[in-house]
Amino acid sequence: MSKNQKDLKLQDNFDPSKSKNKDNLLGVYKSQNEDELISAYKDWALVYDKDNDDVLGTVSQPNSVKIFHEYLKDSKLKIIDVGCGTGLVGLELKNLGFSNFDGIDISQEMIDVAQGRGYNSLFLGNLNKSLPIGSNSYDAALCVGVFTHGHVGPERFSELVRIVKPEGIICFTINENVYESQGFDVAIKHLESLNIWKVLNIRKHDYMVKKNVKGIYCVVKVT
Ligand SMILES: C[S@@+](CC[C@H](N)C(=O)[O-])C[C@H]1O[C@@H](n2cnc3c(N)ncnc32)[C@H](O)[C@@H]1O
Repeated sequence: MSKNQKDLKLQDNFDPSKSKNKDNLLGVYKSQNEDELISAYKDWALVYDKDNDDVLGTVSQPNSVKIFHEYLKDSKLKIIDVGCGTGLVGLELKNLGFSNFDGIDISQEMIDVAQGRGYNSLFLGNLNKSLPIGSNSYDAALCVGVFTHGHVGPERFSELVRIVKPEGIICFTINENVYESQGFDVAIKHLESLNIWKVLNIRKHDYMVKKNVKGIYCVVKVT
């Protein structure tokens, strides 16, 4: 186990799944099934960016792309943004000069907002099932804000590994409030022990600053 992993001390603070608030942003975290989640994102898509800034203070997109860039310098490499949402990660990639990236998401309405934000191709897919992407298709994957309450669990790390080439990079975030309770911590170490990936970086960092929620930012290399 790396020093960073040992140093992770997770706090149990803002837990949207327990909130009585009916806001859009809480609707997505309280969804009981995929149909409810898709419906919640449908309602949220047009104001998602504003809520991210004004209500949540989400910084996971710039933070993730910054960490990702530490490991991936070649701007021509083929990247997939899984759970791309409205394309905030794409905007950050574009700003850093990346030019060859696609996006996939379960919500058509979120994808619609992402149009024009630098993606070569945007398409529908569900990470909880098999994605419509061939094995070893991408040099790298980003998955930001998807490993959280009621979205996708650690058992789907395998699907990210499948679509990324050997030696490729995967950068993902995990909401701190599900990191241990849903077994992400164990799964990350387990995949490393099986030599499926090597953890290059894992750190706890600001995630939704206006809600005082941190995220676990992880970069792995597929072996
Ligand atoms: C919190 S948003 C993050 C969006 C974007 N990555 C960002 O950082 O702004 C989560 C996104 O994951 C998508 N999503 C949720 N479950 C998914 C699944 N099973 N497969 C693919 N995308 C999913 C949602 O539609 C939504 O766009």
